Amino acid sequence: MIAPSLLAANFLQLGDEIRMVNTSSADWIHCDIMDGHFVPNISFGLPVVEQIKKIAEKPMDVHLMISDPDRFLERFKEAGADILTVHYETCPHLHRTVGAIRELGMKAGVAINPHTPVQMLIDILHDVDLILLMTVNPGFGGQTFIQGSYKRLVTLRQMVNTLAPNALIEVDGGVNLDTGRQLFMAGADVLVAGNYVFSSENPIATIEALKNC
Ligand code: DX5
Ligand code: ZN
Repeated sequence: MIAPSLLAANFLQLGDEIRMVNTSSADWIHCDIMDGHFVPNISFGLPVVEQIKKIAEKPMDVHLMISDPDRFLERFKEAGADILTVHYETCPHLHRTVGAIRELGMKAGVAINPHTPVQMLIDILHDVDLILLMTVNPGFGGQTFIQGSYKRLVTLRQMVNTLAPNALIEVDGGVNLDTGRQLFMAGADVLVAGNYVFSSENPIATIEALKNC
């Protein structure tokens, strides 16, 4: 599956960008929420997600890069999130947090930074719908893919197959046709792609190419 990240969209024409994603073969719409605290950047917040939801025809995949995300779970549900992902590094009571996300009726995801051993997820895998493996340091689009990520993905794939075969593995950061092909081979289920899609001449064709890579 492919989830274009709106972080790389033209915000002056956000409606057109979303309608493009609607007509494409993308599976989800990925929204990156940054607070300038957990990550060194600020993106957009609840009012924008609410507006996106009004015209989005694909599930809204919301990636929270914010400290203490528990404060906002309910409001992201109200704003239209279908899948809500929190960072492992931001949640001291992760089991409680993913339980709360599911109780609100959303799919629960856990993201991990490039330095966090995938093995730290062993005891939570059973309780999540999705693991989001960061393949760049979160905070910015257009960064270079971290090569060591393939090995991490292979390990994570084995863990998921054994412990939580229904959980999806999503990969985020530096995805293009080259990395995408290798990521699918290494066991990714969903690829997030920002710049590679929105900076391309024909985003619809780029999404289709990624899907078939
Ligand atoms: C980075 C975000 C990504 C970002 C990916 O912190 O989580 O979703 O938009 O951008 P690209 O695909 O350009 O690396
Ligand atoms: Zn993201």
